[in-house]
Amino acid sequence: MMTPEEQNFMRKIEAEEKIEPKDWMPDAYRKNLIRQISQHAHSEVIGMQPEGNWITRAPSLRRKAVLLSKVQDEAGHGLYLYSACETLGISRSEMIEQLQSGTAKYSSIFNYPTLTWADVGAIGWLVDGAAIVNQVSLQRTSYGPYSRGMIRICKEESFHQRQGYEAMLALAKGSPEQKAMAQDALNRFYWPALMMFGPHDSESAHSQKSMEWKIKRETNDDLRQKFVDQTVKQIEVLGLEHPDKNIKWNEERGHFDSSDLNWDEFWSVINGNGHCNRQRIEHHVAAHDEGEWVRDAITAYNEKKRAKKAQ
Ligand code: ACO
Repeated sequence: MMTPEEQNFMRKIEAEEKIEPKDWMPDAYRKNLIRQISQHAHSEVIGMQPEGNWITRAPSLRRKAVLLSKVQDEAGHGLYLYSACETLGISRSEMIEQLQSGTAKYSSIFNYPTLTWADVGAIGWLVDGAAIVNQVSLQRTSYGPYSRGMIRICKEESFHQRQGYEAMLALAKGSPEQKAMAQDALNRFYWPALMMFGPHDSESAHSQKSMEWKIKRETNDDLRQKFVDQTVKQIEVLGLEHPDKNIKWNEERGHFDSSDLNWDEFWSVINGNGHCNRQRIEHHVAAHDEGEWVRDAITAYNEKKRAKKAQ
């Protein structure tokens, strides 16, 4: 038997009304949202590292300015998402602690190294491209602050995706060495980008409840299929080879068939054993420690202001 509060909550979900911070919500809904939104925020912030690595080595002033701005946007996305998550009753410092201690995950994709400049193009195109497919769907999520955050984030991600594709296009249409570099980046980032959508629906622990509560609006496999389908033509336009030799249009399904992913690699990376997991967290801890004086200064300033007001 549902309590009247639960009934009202489910009525709102079914009527596509947003759930707002002060509304009653089941504990498990709140917990699930905190888990997903905080991991999403961590992904945005950790995601600054692989690309940040190339800011000082961008091939031109224009590329440097664009990359700098994109990486700053990712920091902004992290901040919107941390703020949205705080409305659910968790503090920023608790979330950071969970990230640094390994209790909260962040997207597997950011544990792959960026070896060449083409990787920056591939990340903008494929990683931000995959993120958009997921986030456009999340614009309709049932939690108000998350949904509104997604609308703004998607606008910026779409610029990121285009800058990445444009950088790839320049390389793919450049010298044979540049084209080879673009192909190599595509070959390395294509599969991890598909893993961003999470495990198969049959293996996804949270999907069923998240779909019922409309936290997620489309399943992991459906979103991954959308991305597979949209990427085929983009690879063709670049004049590059598709990394999946089994990619084939299926008339009956109206979708491309593709190879399955290396799920051992996926689980290994999300459980902390990817190429860069340790480096990413160590860097985050160091940057956070270095910023302690800023947090202390803000606290002291706020205390001073409060004391003045109380006089
Ligand atoms: N990387 C790391 N962890 C993952 C990934 C991934 N690619 N996919 C799934 N997982 C984790 C889940 O977080 C969950 O772990 P947990 O129980 O410890 O929290 C576990 O694997 C099982 O997966 P699911 O049950 O399928 O998890 P969920 O329903 O949350 O679906 C998904 C995963 C699709 C990533 C969802 O959380 C989501 O849409 N998140 C918001 C988008 C997002 O986080 N994007 C980050 C990358 S985009 C960017 O930063 C530019």
